[in-house]
Amino acid sequence: MIIIGGTATNGIDESLSKILSIPLVKVESKIFPDGESYIRVPSSIRNEEVLLVQTTDYPQDKHLIELFLIAETIRDLGAKKLTAVVPYLAYSRQDRRFKDGEAVSIKTILHILGEVGVNGLLVVEPHKPEELSYFKGELKIVHPYHQISRKIKEIVEDPFILAPDRGALDRARKIAEEISVPYSYIEKERDRTTGEVRIKEAPNINLKGKDVVLIDDIISTGGTIVQATRLAYSLGARSVTAVAVHLLLVGDAKERLREAGVKTLIGTNTINIKDKDIITIDVSQSIALSL
Ligand code: R5P
Repeated sequence: MIIIGGTATNGIDESLSKILSIPLVKVESKIFPDGESYIRVPSSIRNEEVLLVQTTDYPQDKHLIELFLIAETIRDLGAKKLTAVVPYLAYSRQDRRFKDGEAVSIKTILHILGEVGVNGLLVVEPHKPEELSYFKGELKIVHPYHQISRKIKEIVEDPFILAPDRGALDRARKIAEEISVPYSYIEKERDRTTGEVRIKEAPNINLKGKDVVLIDDIISTGGTIVQATRLAYSLGARSVTAVAVHLLLVGDAKERLREAGVKTLIGTNTINIKDKDIITIDVSQSIALSL
């Protein structure tokens, strides 16, 4: 078996290589003057089983195209089996037609992955696991809840886990149960045209003196967590920590979260987090356990 490290790995390829004692080969890449990506796989991989590591965080389209180019090259070079380890799978929130005529983007992405010869796919915390059924090969899903739970236990004094919407409830429950703390959820709604988030109904809970931990799969514009943070303080919270497996933090999201009163931000290395004041959990161990 061999690991091929793509153009966006956040160190996960190197960690997997160490944890699993499998050799790592990094792809060669450059950008042509017109902006197109060049890829070369500098190794003989005939009849090998290959794990290709490539996350698809910002710039998503570039990272996706490079994933497709590397995958097909690996198959052309005669690999026996190709498993793509895609820690953050972009486009997963556009998993249906919210309005007539919209692209079901994740369907197209997963169809292309199959077409370029990927026969196994591992994704960390997909937005909705059922959307992965558009991929017809072998599927592995990783939930890094154990590592997140441990981090919360280590740094938050009196945690109350709050899911910022109903879709996040199952995740919040599992993490809360692992560290034996209370949990609940908020009902939110999003305007599909403006993207604005609104709390539909405040939960009937008392958060007086609690250190609220908001946990979501993705924090993008921060709109969801800003609303949830304000609500948590209005219900008596002492502090708010925000956790996302995929901390995209688009534009001024981080500043908006801080202004709303988020004291601590926690993400994982499925995304390239550069800010030193964000606590970043390495998901490599969870991925290795699933392979
Ligand atoms: C939505 O269903 C997701 O789970 C997240 O709540 C959402 O993607 C967060 O986006 P934003 O930070 O832009 O509110």
